[in-house]
Amino acid sequence: MKIAVLGGTGLIGSRAVEDLKAAGHEAVPLSRSTGVDLLTGEGLGPALEGADAVVDVTNSPTFDEASAAFFRTTTDHLLTAAREQGVGHVVVLSIVGADRVPDLDYYRAKVLQEDVVKAGPVPYSIVRATQFFEFVDDIMSWTSDGETVRLPSTRLQPIAAADVVRTVAEVAVTPPLQGTLDIAGADVYPLDELGRITLDARGDQRAVVTDHTAGMFSAVPGDAIIAGPDARITPTRYRDWLAVRPA
Ligand SMILES: NC(=O)c1ccc[n+]([C@@H]2O[C@H](COP(=O)([O-])OP(=O)(O)OC[C@H]3O[C@@H](n4cnc5c(N)ncnc54)[C@H](OP(=O)(O)O)[C@@H]3O)[C@@H](O)[C@H]2O)c1
Repeated sequence: MKIAVLGGTGLIGSRAVEDLKAAGHEAVPLSRSTGVDLLTGEGLGPALEGADAVVDVTNSPTFDEASAAFFRTTTDHLLTAAREQGVGHVVVLSIVGADRVPDLDYYRAKVLQEDVVKAGPVPYSIVRATQFFEFVDDIMSWTSDGETVRLPSTRLQPIAAADVVRTVAEVAVTPPLQGTLDIAGADVYPLDELGRITLDARGDQRAVVTDHTAGMFSAVPGDAIIAGPDARITPTRYRDWLAVRPA
């Protein structure tokens, strides 16, 4: 199969391209650096020619209120071009529980993206993942002053990017779900504890200070971003991943 991967140079996209190629498919990475801009639509139509499926794993440059315009415009362009080129399957990657966190601009923007895809003219699959293991360092960097990291005890169920990639690649080559598949790692951690485990494994001397007002995850109510009973639980465990990952 020919699969176009928008955001195919990013964390998930680049690995999805590799996975798909390893499985014998023709996977084409698309992004601004390959001459395709999903915000303006530049280069998009020709890039989708002959594709059986298109995966959208692009990301907004910011997590603020501007992210809604990013996902609205890029998804509109994607669906229009996919329809014109006769692409039979659009796959997007969203976030478990995004609809249960109305106070976060970025999560509202991801729900908007899902809604545009659901209402669109192209058969679709929505994969919703929990927070990537690889994202934990970014989360800590937002509220670190070099000596401490302030984190709320919001419960997360993080997942390895490699497991997300495997699922996205699998969904891309199977018939459209016309629905949503939630995926999550096996373990639930309060974010402050996740921070402590991570710093400890790295020998990082910074201390985690529990702060229920710190960072974007302080806006998450209760267990809103924990996977429900229908989610697919993926194999890689955070402590095992940390143990083999270079600092
Ligand atoms: N982080 C998490 O924990 C998490 C959890 C669940 C779901 N997700 C979702 O996963 C998706 C992928 O995340 P990621 O971490 O893999 O992203 P990433 O590493 O930041 O990669 C983003 C990709 O999008 C491309 N891109 C950005 N703007 C573009 C544009 N205007 N036109 C074309 N391509 C554009 C970038 O390439 P260029 O710069 O070359 O254009 C890059 O290839 C996101 O939609 C995110 O919401 C993330």
